[in-house]
Amino acid sequence: MRNYIIEDLPHYYEQYKKSIKNPKKFWDGIADKNFVWYQRWNKVVKYDMDKAKITWFKNAKLNITKNCLDRHLSIRGEKTAIIWEPNDPQEKSQHISYSELYRRVNKTANVLKEMGIKKGDRVCIYLPMIPELAVVMLACAKLGAVHSVIFAGFSAAAVASRVNDCGAKMMITSDGSYRGSKILDLKSIIDEALEQCQTVEHVLVVKRTDNKVNMQEGRDFWMEGLFEKTSADFVTQIMDAEDPLFILYTSGSTGKPKGMLHTCAGYMVYTGYTFKNVFNYQENDVYWCTADIGWITGHSYILYGPLINGATTVIFEGIPTYPEPDRFWEIIEKHKVTQFYTAPTAIRSLAKESADWVDKHDLSSLRVIGSVGEPINDEAWHWFNDHVGRKKCPIVDTWWQTETGGIMISPIPFVTPTKPTYATLPLPGVQPVLMDDKRNEITGNQVTGNLCIRFPWPGIARTIWGDHQRYKETYFTAFPGKYFTGDGALRDEVGYYRITGRVDDVVIVSGHNLGTAPIEDSINEHPAVAESAIVGFPHDIKGSALYGFVILKESGESRQKENLKKEINQLISDQIGPIAKLDKIQFVSGLPKTRSGKIMRRILRKIAEGDLSNFGDISTLLNPEIVEEIKIERI
Ligand code: WTA
Repeated sequence: MRNYIIEDLPHYYEQYKKSIKNPKKFWDGIADKNFVWYQRWNKVVKYDMDKAKITWFKNAKLNITKNCLDRHLSIRGEKTAIIWEPNDPQEKSQHISYSELYRRVNKTANVLKEMGIKKGDRVCIYLPMIPELAVVMLACAKLGAVHSVIFAGFSAAAVASRVNDCGAKMMITSDGSYRGSKILDLKSIIDEALEQCQTVEHVLVVKRTDNKVNMQEGRDFWMEGLFEKTSADFVTQIMDAEDPLFILYTSGSTGKPKGMLHTCAGYMVYTGYTFKNVFNYQENDVYWCTADIGWITGHSYILYGPLINGATTVIFEGIPTYPEPDRFWEIIEKHKVTQFYTAPTAIRSLAKESADWVDKHDLSSLRVIGSVGEPINDEAWHWFNDHVGRKKCPIVDTWWQTETGGIMISPIPFVTPTKPTYATLPLPGVQPVLMDDKRNEITGNQVTGNLCIRFPWPGIARTIWGDHQRYKETYFTAFPGKYFTGDGALRDEVGYYRITGRVDDVVIVSGHNLGTAPIEDSINEHPAVAESAIVGFPHDIKGSALYGFVILKESGESRQKENLKKEINQLISDQIGPIAKLDKIQFVSGLPKTRSGKIMRRILRKIAEGDLSNFGDISTLLNPEIVEEIKIERI
């Protein structure tokens, strides 16, 4: 990032001011100096926040893979692009150089092309954390297909709804997946999902576990066989700045998941710039982000951001506790990791283990450590700082979203003094504002409010696939003229931000966003259930967990009720995935409702949290007596 590396605090403030005073000039300079283009843009940004129409670098021509791969070949062709660390520590890790990655991407792009994939087609990907996952994503980008990665923990029903929503023409999966001591059968989940999908013509299957799988004649093909046969030359597709790059689904507070659409140029510029600055990336560093590529963190900061910067990025297939709870620390020591980026849930669960697991490892290679996905509590922050960073590594607590494409609020390491539990300051180009419920901007410091962003930044998602109206309503109508994040935040006396959590009906469980309405919908399908309401409550390890209040059609005996609880969780598991299971289920005879029939969730949240002292004004309830009953029978 020539000329755009933030060096110290005065330099940050100077850059920040410039970026706000003249965002066009600021982003124009970054885009111009640090990326390769076939053709320059004729307008840096154009936006209409009321219509939710945003374009960046209009009419520029590019391909993100030229920036991730081709341009590195002459200077760092033999440098390791990807270190792949398998689930089983006995299996050899792989070092894939930039030139080897380039070759694999070309061959895979040819495979896709030979299977009929063209620019603009959607390709769904359901793979474990293996190098092929990165390769197929880049191959899609190279030929202009729109990838949509589905986290390989989602159920068949959840896969089917995503495939149908984006109308995917192809599915890429594997014969199986290793997760700790378990082997998961991904292919049969795909087979089940595709029974409900009409658009998928071909399924490519990557070999990983040697599980016996069912191959449907004419539809399913082994990737390996096709890959071997195909050519290593591929002519890169020239993309327009605003052509789609990928769709990634995220939960909304209501309705089906939202397919957030990211486009080529803005996403590239934003992830490239933020990666370099937030992780203080230097040429010989080994960077590791523990997220799954199936989430936005993996897209932006395992794959695209690092490769744009010519970095070495670690892809880890396994889990933090296999074979022992020191796997993370062992990997840091083994590969001499310099930047380590993980989630508060992982930190909390590893902090529960004896400190010896971490203290016995040589973590002296680390320079910067980071956290993402949910608020990091004070205890976890200090444990991370003391045991992992050993009080020498700045912690970057990075706040951002699937919708923002890249990091928005975060300390810059060695520049911004950190403060436990605070994401601190906005990155250049990002203008956070706090709004009250009456849509007034809250100025000054030591205040809290709804977190909005005033001006577009290059990485913002452009729409919800197939539903621009929903995009506009979800993000641009609550606070006209501004992007609404759905989060609450506090601004302290020096202007540092602390994210306080969601202000809508999304609950973040172990870093995964879950909308409560879709879970209620699936519970309500159970024949014994009349109605249900789900809220989040604080959980030591997961951050938040789910509490379900369920009304049965007929009240049953307690043994039946225990079975019902199991059935309800099984239903959720089948329809959404095991991550959405309820920790607690309480059967109730009614739910607190307002006269207009709305469930008063505020009361349910307090009961779930165990705060039974003050429910505030419940006089508007239709059935105030129910509150007492729910309170007494609370689990
Ligand atoms: C939450 C993940 C507090 C927040 C990149 C946001 C955070 C949602 C932080 C987006 C953080 C993310 N501190 N909360 N550092 N980072 N969040 O789309 O509620 O999976 O709206 O993107 O996670 O989750 P998503």
